[in-house]
Amino acid sequence: MVLTDLPKVIETEVSCYPDPWSHQTFADCLSAQTKGYRCYVLLLEEGVIGHAVLTLILDEAELLNFCLAPTQQGKGLAADYLDSVLMAMAKQGANKLFLEVRQSNTPARQLYTSAGMQEIGRRKDYYPLGGGREDAILMGLEWQSV
Ligand SMILES: CC(C)(COP(=O)(O)OP(=O)(O)OC[C@H]1O[C@@H](n2cnc3c(N)ncnc32)[C@H](O)[C@@H]1OP(=O)(O)O)[C@@H](O)C(=O)NCCC(=O)NCCS
Repeated sequence: MVLTDLPKVIETEVSCYPDPWSHQTFADCLSAQTKGYRCYVLLLEEGVIGHAVLTLILDEAELLNFCLAPTQQGKGLAADYLDSVLMAMAKQGANKLFLEVRQSNTPARQLYTSAGMQEIGRRKDYYPLGGGREDAILMGLEWQSV
């Protein structure tokens, strides 16, 4: 991801999340790549159609944002994109990855489960949901160093 990707990234972000990250947040992550942030876009012929933001500290990666444009969802692209992101992390020294996902986010939870991630914890009532709250599911994956 580079700064000129941000208009497309924000377009996808706004259409996917009720509480989207701002342009400034992405710009801050990009400028902090040397401090452990890793920012990627999924680029197809039609342009930027997805993005991923992680932190990488020593051998531990955390997936903070993973998103596909709604018109590109349901086509099986997410699994390949996630694989690429995991590979990039492994090549940079990671051997574990953690993330948080809303309990109600079935596609994301299924995607992560299919990639071998397991539920390792739960933050009760972590996210706002309508007038109420919902749990955050913590998921993790470990692998042998490459
Ligand atoms: C999460 C996201 C990247 C997944 O991409 P996608 O193209 O929608 O994913 P897929 O269609 O390949 O579905 C992923 C899995 O969930 C399953 N699935 C999808 N919708 C489902 C539903 N309503 N009920 C049950 N399973 C469902 C699919 O069958 C697939 O299962 P598989 O891995 O066993 O093949 C995408 O939905 C997205 O960008 N969402 C908005 C942002 C977001 O929520 N990101 C995650 C933050 S933690």
